[in-house]
Amino acid sequence: MRIADFTLERYFARWEFAVRHVLCASDVEPLAMHELLDIADDDSRARWDSLRLGYTESLGLPVLREAIAGLYKAVSPEDVITFAGGEEGVFLAMHALLEPGDHAVVVWPSYQSLHEVARSIGAEVTLVALNPRDWSLDVDAAAAAMRPNTRVIVINFPHSPTGAQISPEQLARLVGIAELHGAWLFSDEVYRYLEHDGPTLPAAADLSERALSLGLMSKSFALAGLRIGWLAVRDAALRARLAALKDYTTICNSAPSEILALAALRARERVLARSRAIVRENLELLDGFFARHQDRFSWVRPRAGTVCFPRYLGGDVDAFCASLVEERGVLLLPASQFGASGDHFRLGYGRRDMPVALEELASFLTR
Ligand SMILES: Cc1ncc(COP(=O)(O)O)c(C=O)c1O
Repeated sequence: MRIADFTLERYFARWEFAVRHVLCASDVEPLAMHELLDIADDDSRARWDSLRLGYTESLGLPVLREAIAGLYKAVSPEDVITFAGGEEGVFLAMHALLEPGDHAVVVWPSYQSLHEVARSIGAEVTLVALNPRDWSLDVDAAAAAMRPNTRVIVINFPHSPTGAQISPEQLARLVGIAELHGAWLFSDEVYRYLEHDGPTLPAAADLSERALSLGLMSKSFALAGLRIGWLAVRDAALRARLAALKDYTTICNSAPSEILALAALRARERVLARSRAIVRENLELLDGFFARHQDRFSWVRPRAGTVCFPRYLGGDVDAFCASLVEERGVLLLPASQFGASGDHFRLGYGRRDMPVALEELASFLTR
């Protein structure tokens, strides 16, 4: 298999741990171990204290699958397969769904693996771009992109990097298009539960047996270091293919991570309340910042998630981001790192150091 470098992840590998402020992070400020153990229920705590560090069940710890299924309406614990983060779920799902010569329709811009894995398999990919004016999705354009050999439609709402959201009606239409064509709907829902101006979108897996919902602990649940993600898939044959593929990657999850994920999901209202408070406060600061700097940036306020995709109006955005990181140690992610054109950059507002990083950016602008 030949696969292109994951540009964004290579960029992070270069900078993430070398800078003072990662102002483009997509996760919420990570929970400390003691914070999580402090809110763990008695059963999770007992499991943690008596944990044996052997191999774990390949599909995931049964009580963890049960806790994950509790996030959905029509998904049972058997419908859940856990993975090492979301990334393994994306990788294996594309391998389970696609063969060389197949076709995939992918919303654009996109987290690179959502289209690159399909390409590496030998599938053709049609990108359906969000409208940069307001980052809305034209569902008719997705419908028009369908071909007889389209096997999967790939969506990601709440969306990275734009913070876009679709309506339940649009989601239902996408489900209908996939079903009509005998295709699958792969729905990356990793920023779910961080909606700023509306209700949580239904999970695609709740709406159809032809849909897969990707979830994880990394973003809204503020636990990226656990490397726990999952797919909710109601089709038994597809689940069997996914399970067979997992035998060639991680086989099973990290035992400590499973227990910590269980504790966090059982305390999810507290974990999510903390995440929501951080992003809400940071978003208010961003409102002020972009109002003050209209001459330098244009901004579509994100509707959900932890990231947004403002446009730099001062010229070359790559050069701007490069000077910012070299002079001030503040990392932004220019559009080129998504393989996208234009002068946009990703800014993340899930971290507690965002206010300080934003002040540094403001002072850099006046230099
Ligand atoms: C849209 C999207 N999907 C999937 C992932 C992968 O998540 P994980 O870090 O848990 O592997 C990310 C991570 O940045 C993401 O932004």
